[in-house]
Parts: sequence; C-alpha cells; structure tokens
Amino acid sequence: MQNRQHPLTVITFGTFDVFHIGHLNVLERARKLGNRLIVGVSSDELNQRKKARLPVYRESERLKIIDSLKCVDAVFLEESLERKAEYIRHFQADILVMGDDWKGKFDEFSSLCEVIYLPRTPSVSTTTIIEVVKAM
Ligand code: CTP
Repeated sequence: MQNRQHPLTVITFGTFDVFHIGHLNVLERARKLGNRLIVGVSSDELNQRKKARLPVYRESERLKIIDSLKCVDAVFLEESLERKAEYIRHFQADILVMGDDWKGKFDEFSSLCEVIYLPRTPSVSTTTIIEVVKAM
C-alpha cells in the first residue's frame, strides 16, 4: 500500500532545443510513469559549457514551449549539472527519467529516487535537424 503525501512525481532534464517528436515522445512517456512531470530545461550558459554551442532557441523560449505541453506540469531552468541531486530533492521527485543515450550516467541518483532510462525515438535529434537545415 502506498503511503504518499504528494503526487507520484517524475523529473527529467534536457535542452529541448529545436523541439521535435523525440522530445515529445520522451516527455509523454515520462508523464505516464507518475501523476506529475517536472522538466529541468538546460540554461543557455549550461548548454554552451556542455555542448560548446549556444542553442538555436534561447532558454526563455525553450522553457515556454515545454511549459505549454499537456504532459508537463512544471518547468524550471537547469543551471548546473552538479545540482541534479538538489533539484530531485527540491521537487520531491520519485522517479528520474532520461533517454537511454544517458544509460548508466544517472545511476548515482538511485539512492534518492528510481532512475529509469526510456528508449530514444530513432532517427531524430536536434543535432541532425540543424545539420539538415544547414545543408539545404
Ligand atoms: N530524446 C529522445 N529521442 C530522441 C532525441 C532525444 O528520447 N530522438 C530525449 C533525450 O534522451 C533526452 C531528451 O529527449 O532525455 C532531451 O534531449 P536533448 O539532448 O535535448 O535532445 P537531442 O535531440 O538528443 O539533442 P542533441 O542532438 O543536441 O544531443
């Protein structure tokens, strides 16, 4: 029997730049694992550090797009990769979801919450969309 004081909360993180169907699929599937989905959207500065380029869409736009989705209950700006544990605790997340391109990379958080890697949608990524558009 569950003895829970808050809704079953799922948290996930990502840049979600040039929003595409792979993003929507992972968010919809993440939401179905619980009753509330919180999304940490990487800041422009974090993206610059992580991927050595700025996103196409700035953080305020990416936050607005993600926040407008039916499957998303709340968004916040992820400003540091090192603060994941803090974000998990702050939002009282029960489940951390990531695409399986991150498989194993978040296992350290399994003492705080369940860690689930969902299969990526094949053949689509922000990087390939940018490449395709550039080549046009
Ligand atoms: N994702 C997915 N399927 C895809 C692309 C992304 O499930 N085809 C998931 C990732 O695993 C992650 C989330 O979407 O959990 C956000 O990923 P992000 O890095 O923002 O998107 P990518 O398209 O992978 O971006 P990039 O090409 O810049 O790495």
